[in-house]
Amino acid sequence: MKTVGRIFKWLVIILIVGVIALIAFVQTSWEKEFTADHPAIKASTDSAIIARGESLAYGLAHCAVCHVPDEKLENVLRGEKVPLSGGWEISIPPGTFRAPNITPDEETGIGKLTDEELARTLRHMVSHDNKVVLPFMPYANMSDADLQAIISFLRSQPAEYHKVPENEYSFLGKAVMAFGLIKPTGPTKTPPKSVPIEASVEYGKYLANSVGDCVGCHTERSMQTGEFLGEPFAGGGDVNEPGSTMQFTTPNLTPDQNTGIMANWTEEEFIARFRQGRIYEESPMPWELFSRVDELELKALYRYLMSLDPVFNKIEVVKEKA
Ligand code: HEC
Ligand code: HEC
Repeated sequence: MKTVGRIFKWLVIILIVGVIALIAFVQTSWEKEFTADHPAIKASTDSAIIARGESLAYGLAHCAVCHVPDEKLENVLRGEKVPLSGGWEISIPPGTFRAPNITPDEETGIGKLTDEELARTLRHMVSHDNKVVLPFMPYANMSDADLQAIISFLRSQPAEYHKVPENEYSFLGKAVMAFGLIKPTGPTKTPPKSVPIEASVEYGKYLANSVGDCVGCHTERSMQTGEFLGEPFAGGGDVNEPGSTMQFTTPNLTPDQNTGIMANWTEEEFIARFRQGRIYEESPMPWELFSRVDELELKALYRYLMSLDPVFNKIEVVKEKA
C-alpha cells in the first residue's frame, strides 16, 4: 500500500509541475513575431483613386461595417460615409477582438503607420509590430491597384481621435497562439496588379473571392480553423452572430437547378434582389452596403456565379433558434 501511495503522490507532483510549465510556456511564448515582405504600395492623392477606395470601403469590401463605432453603424447602413474610427467588437472563446481606428489620427489611428505597413497588414496579415493579424479580413488576394486605392482613401479621411481598447486574449487564445495554431494567412498566389473593371466573369470572380468575401460566407467551413470543407459557393456556411434569435446557413449560389438559390434568376432579377437590400433583420450579410454597389459590379458577380459548375447542395437557410 505504501508504494501505491508514493506513486500517487509523485503523479500529483508531476501533474502540478506539468500544469505550471504549460502556463509558463503559454504566458511567455504566445506573442509570436512573424515576418512578411512589405508590398511596394504608395498612397496616391489622385481623386479617382481615392474615390475607388471609398467605394470599396463602403461597398463590396465592407470595411465600414466593422471599422465604425457601434452608434454610427446606423448612419453607415443609411449610406453616410462616416470616418472609419473603429469600434466593432467580438467576444469569442479565444478572447475579445476589436476593429481599430483607421483614420489618420496620429495617436489613436493609423497616422504613424507607413503605406507599406498598412499594405502588409491587409495582404499578409502581419501587423506593423510584426504580430499576427487575426483572420477577420479576407483581402490577401486583392490587387495592387485596389490595395493602393483603399490606403489612399484611408489617408484622405479626416483624422478622428477615438481610442479603441486593445485586443484581449483569453488563456485559450494565448495557448492557441503559443502552439502556433494561428499563423498569418497571406495570398494564395501573386495578387494581380489590377483587374479590368468591366461586367466580366473575370472581374466577378475577383470581386466574389478577393474583395466581397462571398466565398468566405457562402461555403461550408470548419468552425475551429475556418478551413474550407465544402465546394466554394455551394453554401452551408454557419455564419451566426452571437446573440441572434435566428439560425442562418448560407444558401448555395452555384447554378444548380434544384438547390441553387439563384439558378433560375435572370441578371435583372439578381440586380433587383441586391437593390432591395435586407429581408432578414438579423442576417449577417451586409446587404445595405451591397445594395448600393454599381450595376456593373452586380452584373460581373452574376456572370461569374452563373459560370460556376452546378453543385447539388440542399440548404435550409433560416431556422428559429431552439
Ligand atoms: C469583420 C470585421 C472587419 C472588416 C470587414 C474589416 N476589418 Fe479591419 N480589422 C478588424 C479587426 C477585428 C482588426 C484587429 C485584428 C487584430 O488586431 O488581430 C482589424 C485591423 C485592421 C487594421 C490594422 C490597424 C493597425 O493598427 O495595425 C487595418 C489597417 C484594417 N483593419 C483595415 C481594414 C480595411 C481597409 C478594411 C476593408 C478593406 C477592413 N479593415 C475590414 C475587423 C474588420
Ligand atoms: C457575412 C456573411 C455573408 C457575406 C460576406 C455574403 N453573404 Fe450572401 N448571404 C448570407 C446569408 C446568411 C444569407 C441568407 C440570409 C439572407 O438572405 O440575408 C445570404 C443570402 C444571399 C443570397 C440569397 C438572397 C435571397 O433573396 O434568397 C444571395 C444571392 C447572396 N447571399 C449573394 C452574396 C454575394 C454575391 C456576396 C458577395 C458580394 C455575398 N452574398 C456575401 C451571408 C453572407
